[in-house]
Amino acid sequence: MNKKIKRSYIREILDATDENTISFAGGLPDKELFPLFELSKASKEVFKNSDCLQYSKSQGIESLREKIAQIYTDKFNFPTSKDEILITTGSQQAFDIILKSLDSNELIVERPTYIGALGAFKILNKQILGFNKIDELNTLLNENNILYTISDYQNPSTNIYSNKERKEFSKILNKKKSVLIEDGPYCFLNFKNKIKDPISKRYDNSFHLGSFSKIVAPGLRLGWIRANKNNINKLFVAKESLDLHTSSFNQMLMNEYLSSNNLFKHISKINKEYNKKMKFMAKCFKRDIPSFTFKKPKGGMFIYGSFKEDSMILAKKAIRENIAFVPGEVFYLNKKSNEARFNFTNASYKDIKIGINKLASIINSDK
Ligand SMILES: Cc1ncc(COP(=O)(O)O)c(C=O)c1O
Repeated sequence: MNKKIKRSYIREILDATDENTISFAGGLPDKELFPLFELSKASKEVFKNSDCLQYSKSQGIESLREKIAQIYTDKFNFPTSKDEILITTGSQQAFDIILKSLDSNELIVERPTYIGALGAFKILNKQILGFNKIDELNTLLNENNILYTISDYQNPSTNIYSNKERKEFSKILNKKKSVLIEDGPYCFLNFKNKIKDPISKRYDNSFHLGSFSKIVAPGLRLGWIRANKNNINKLFVAKESLDLHTSSFNQMLMNEYLSSNNLFKHISKINKEYNKKMKFMAKCFKRDIPSFTFKKPKGGMFIYGSFKEDSMILAKKAIRENIAFVPGEVFYLNKKSNEARFNFTNASYKDIKIGINKLASIINSDK
């Protein structure tokens, strides 16, 4: 066991919280919006077929891969076949699968970036370098390294790349020939249901990661990798070594859910509700902690901003008062920061109001 690597700050916070904690820490969806009834109905159908409890193919069940491929073809105009999809146990597993399957030892990541990706890269002893601006990639990228990017509602910064920026990425990638891992769990979570084409569409040596976690339910642990057939074929050994295949039951459940329901209607409902919650949290901040500066996101699940105070110290004080949020520092490789990430999707309106107000009292009691 590698003793030097600390656990994810967020997973530790999640373990430390209980029913008395108001948590803005995890990237948890609103459980009130889970399609419980529809999934329960689908499960009854799935249980009629005993294959749901049997071993299945490592790449994932065909009908589910077909449906995911169709989403790429229809929504991004990015022609994709079922052979270009590998089902993963959450998109988190994709990091491990891809990195164990390629020779590259260096990753180039946004500053700040997703803590779970940093953890996955570190445990495999990869070198990690950060970039702030796209043009830095002209010097950082080469054919032996990997670019890791979250193009939509980045976690934690909430940034989304414009179409012009996406073209810039693909231009540099086509010149430098690095591998691209484009992580897209939030790509459909635009408050106005607008979708941007992934960078991967313009760069073939790429792995686009998707997930049902934020658009259906994270407990099912269902994600996928979209890549050309040649790149998908490189991944099977690593996938098989991890878990042979992703849960047959969960895949068949999702397949049945997608057959009998309109996923994008459900996503549009989520987006509408999340927009309202985001605006509500933003209003609470403006009223109670006006010194916290942030740009309202256009989608995703977080508000990311800067405190005047040391956000790490504040987070520690807050957790003692049963309020959890994530200090920005943990999203950087090595940088002090007063930034902080607040999830607005999981807590109720009442808890958002109480939580931000309590946080304001903690800040004001120090003055
Ligand atoms: C950017 C990013 N990538 C990947 C994941 C992992 O998601 P999954 O639940 O599909 O493993 C998350 C979860 O928060 C995330 O924010």
